[in-house]
Amino acid sequence: MVSYKELGLVNTREMFAKAIKGGYAIPAFNFNNMEQLQAIIKASAETKSPVILQVSKGARNYANQTLLRYMAQGAVEYAKELGWEHPQICLHLDHGDSFELCKSCVDFGFSSVMIDASHLPYEENIALTKKVVDYAHQYDVTVEAELGVLAGVEDEVSSAVSHYTKPEEVVDFATRTGCDSLAISIGTSHGAYKFTPEQCTRDPKTGKLVPPPLAFDVLDAIMEQLPGFPIVLHGSSSVPQEYVDMINSTGGKLPDAVGIPEEQLRKAAKSAVCKINIDSDSRLAFTAAVRKVFAEKPGEFDPRKYCGPARDLMEELYKHKIINVLGSNGKAE
Ligand code: 13P
Repeated sequence: MVSYKELGLVNTREMFAKAIKGGYAIPAFNFNNMEQLQAIIKASAETKSPVILQVSKGARNYANQTLLRYMAQGAVEYAKELGWEHPQICLHLDHGDSFELCKSCVDFGFSSVMIDASHLPYEENIALTKKVVDYAHQYDVTVEAELGVLAGVEDEVSSAVSHYTKPEEVVDFATRTGCDSLAISIGTSHGAYKFTPEQCTRDPKTGKLVPPPLAFDVLDAIMEQLPGFPIVLHGSSSVPQEYVDMINSTGGKLPDAVGIPEEQLRKAAKSAVCKINIDSDSRLAFTAAVRKVFAEKPGEFDPRKYCGPARDLMEELYKHKIINVLGSNGKAE
């Protein structure tokens, strides 16, 4: 058993309390490899933004849980080296799907876990979430739960249709489970194809898809039921069209990829939404930068020469999200 406190990490409790009061959201960036982690930490240290490093079950399988743990520990030291005196870094399990996985992460030094039992019947979701909360809280590890179903595909999590969170259930759910934050479904979706062309309209000038708006009325109703309670938005990549164009113009094939417009995320960040999950945008930036290098220099075979530019582009993306979308810059001086 390793406590996250020994690793210099923090849980989400204080981060979220400050974010709700301050009208901003904490970025939750997924990572699987060194370049992503370096870019996240550099962007957070330079902007002095609290940050949540997210590890999915797929990332644990890909990168090895021991390595990821030590990488997160190293990230705290790296942040200090970069001149961030008091880094506020949370290591969070994204979409935990069983008690055993959540327990293993708590025991392994994670400071926060998500138990996603949203696909189960309501009472089973409550029972499993409560079991995780009871365990995690003994070690002061915070727990995110989910009510409602997001559409889209993300690692092992996929659903063809979304079901909005029912505002009439949230008080009962939060009270009976004791969870620290609640992921809700209001129209965001995992992956780079968040909406089908049929769900969108098309901008006549650019030919690009314009997605339907998020259900802010459902968010408002949830906030009315649970005033001041931390709300989480998954599936919040905006799928920047410049990356999609870079990919498509260098031999890639991502037709009609579409995300959540950033102004909607900015609006959400000012409310009780205090954690916004972004993974696909970083994947797109990485891929776009690597493809550009290969298109321009087909003879390149030193991974540093294509992973380096990918890292730079991801850092730029993370800074942009922190400063221009979430507003979390300067909140962890
Ligand atoms: P995106 O696919 O929109 O980046 O969402 C990531 C996410 O919600 C991780 O849990």
